[in-house]
Amino acid sequence: MTAFIQGLPKVELHLHIEGSLEPELAFELAKRNNIDIPYESPEALKLAYEFEDLQSFLDIYYQGANVLQSEQDFYDLTMAYLVRCKQDNVIHTEIFFDPQTHTDRGIAFETVFNGIHRALDVGESELGISSHLIMCFLRHLSEESAIDTLEQSLPFKDKIIGVGLDSSELGHPPEKFTRVFNMAVEAGYLTVAHAGEEGPAQNIIDSLEMLKVSRVDHGVRCVEDDKLLARLIEEKTPLTVCPLSNIKLCVFDDMKQHNIVELLRKGVAVTINSDDPSYFGGYMTDNFLAVNEAHPMTHQELAQFTLNAIEGSFISDEMKNRYREQVMDYVSKF
Ligand code: ADE
Ligand code: ZN
Repeated sequence: MTAFIQGLPKVELHLHIEGSLEPELAFELAKRNNIDIPYESPEALKLAYEFEDLQSFLDIYYQGANVLQSEQDFYDLTMAYLVRCKQDNVIHTEIFFDPQTHTDRGIAFETVFNGIHRALDVGESELGISSHLIMCFLRHLSEESAIDTLEQSLPFKDKIIGVGLDSSELGHPPEKFTRVFNMAVEAGYLTVAHAGEEGPAQNIIDSLEMLKVSRVDHGVRCVEDDKLLARLIEEKTPLTVCPLSNIKLCVFDDMKQHNIVELLRKGVAVTINSDDPSYFGGYMTDNFLAVNEAHPMTHQELAQFTLNAIEGSFISDEMKNRYREQVMDYVSKF
């Protein structure tokens, strides 16, 4: 099954580009930019990646982003991620970036955007990986700051497919961002939001109703509300689940307790994603392998994760058809 999973074409819909910063690259960028990292070595930094909840991770993650300074840094970060994608047979990826993490440190929006976007262009032309970019608002910051970020993004609107909502879910419910999400929809952006990761099922309902999201990031706590679960199945709402992330952040005690396969078998449009692979111990293939080890699946079930991701992605119908055929072809020939 390992070979099948390795070769399976994959589509990633939940990846924070800042969360793909590997310790080795962090040290290289720190040297390049004359920034001090309070750890002796990449290995020592990696040992600090032990988390008890989302917040304990976010504290380290935002600190880690300090080494990103120039457009070239953002380019190098994104290229490194795309090269890993290629190894894992990822054919399409929709990437989150958090502008406020950088603009609050005095880095210009266009520095961040240009570096990431230039790499995505090269990823498409040289690695054959298609992509979209989604700009996230940090929910622990104010609505005003989110509106300011939305305004800064407008000159780049044709190259950003949507807006999202990430960071601390507890204490920062979807309703705090209703106004800025309405503004984003009016500007032509699609919307997604993290919900039901640490927060209650009600956050999923509010994201659907108040933020008009096309898909829900994480969403694993939907099982706490039977009516919501039935609605997600009926409306085919994609959930971008991140299995290794959920274990590292103690959303589930271990992979055997994870509900992703149960959700798949109930007919929920679940997908497998890596979230912040450098911090959580694995990229796409690692996530598929870990889920399959705890919950053995058939080839068709494993392929269904990719088919769900294709359907839930923001690519054209024509591309969806092409990618679907690629997956079916792979399964039939394996
Ligand atoms: N930012 C990066 N990873 C995140 C996660 N898993 N949840 C919320 N915000 C995040
Ligand atoms: Zn996330």
